[in-house]
Amino acid sequence: MISPSHRFGSESPIHTSVTEYHTAIDHGSDKNVVNADTLIEDEYFRTNPKPEYLDKLVGKAEKFLKNIPKTCKIVLLTSGGTTVPLENNTVRFIDNFSAGTRGASSAEQFLANGYYVIFLHREFSLTPFNRQFTHSATTQFLDYFNEHGELKQDFKAKILEEKKLQLKYQKQLLLLPFTTVNQYLWSLRSIALLMNNKNCLFYLAAAVSDFYVPYSKLPQHKIQSSNEYKKSDYSKESKSASSSSSSSSSSSSSSSSSSSGSSSNVLSSGKLILDLDPVPKFLRRLVQSWAKSSMIISFKLETDSSILIKKAKQALKNYNHQLVIGNLLQTRNKEVVFVSEDANIKEQWVKLTADVTCIEALIIPEAIKRHQEWIATQESK
Ligand code: PMT
Repeated sequence: MISPSHRFGSESPIHTSVTEYHTAIDHGSDKNVVNADTLIEDEYFRTNPKPEYLDKLVGKAEKFLKNIPKTCKIVLLTSGGTTVPLENNTVRFIDNFSAGTRGASSAEQFLANGYYVIFLHREFSLTPFNRQFTHSATTQFLDYFNEHGELKQDFKAKILEEKKLQLKYQKQLLLLPFTTVNQYLWSLRSIALLMNNKNCLFYLAAAVSDFYVPYSKLPQHKIQSSNEYKKSDYSKESKSASSSSSSSSSSSSSSSSSSSGSSSNVLSSGKLILDLDPVPKFLRRLVQSWAKSSMIISFKLETDSSILIKKAKQALKNYNHQLVIGNLLQTRNKEVVFVSEDANIKEQWVKLTADVTCIEALIIPEAIKRHQEWIATQESK
């Protein structure tokens, strides 16, 4: 039997969904505040703290990569959504819809096609081979067992099938978690730096937040909805901000103003104003620096079909990587479009057929074909 800790190797698992309390900033004092507007990509990593567990995560990736024969293909596959904490002792956070279906299903297909897979995924999102059982709307965990604790006959065949696959591919698969967008970015960079060669493919299916609260602006404690528990030094700062500001009535009536360095501003009306910064576009850094010798496939998600291909082309132009797979939220499980750097290749739609019910079973062979062709062009240079 494989123990649960097997998911992350024999050592204890890494948990990413817990707050790192001791790194909280106290915005009662403004000494920690940096001007987030001046942040550039590299500054991001200087001003947003490295996750405590990162060295351990990188150690696992190094160990996994060390045991892979030189000629084998490897994919770093990102999956699931990133969160954006609104408080350092996190009660509230911004999230997105992604359950990790695309990522988990794609990982299974890459494994079946001989690739080694580093599965950088949102903790507790869907994982390869487990995905059909863990997040079911109709079957809860205990429903799989009868009153004697035995696996019900109805589920046995399907569970055995997936279990066999899990065992077959266990040495080819490494699962590494993230929860926040900051954890994702630190992990992506650290692992990418280990995988910078042509046999490595980056398949970025994670839904990465475009907006976040920089560490320097993150309130230490839960945002209060009333003035009763606001810090006295906040109110002092609010007052001075209001006296020096003639234009902003909101700052004069706020319980925590941006002059305290906090991203959140609760008005006397009870409204919460959030001030989010753009997440730097790290795809550019990945392509130009961290993994410049690897092939990179990114996803482009839109909800408006009339702009999907245009936006995919724009991403290729902006980041100069090899392939964008475009998908619409509404039809993402039925069809996707391949948009490549090669101007001679027109967009290629990949759609479910009567025989194939899993879109990733069509996406991955095409992605692998393009990876092989790309390797051939690199070798002929
Ligand atoms: O999990 P499912 O429910 O199956 O859904 C799958 C999916 C729809 C999430 C997936 O197929 C998908 O489209 N993933 C990418 C969603 C996304 O973040 O799209 P985007 O247009 O915001 O970003 C485009 C690319 O840039 C992505 O590869 C992303 O990883 C990357 N990016 C985004 C933001 C950022 N600051 N830096 C980045 O590098």
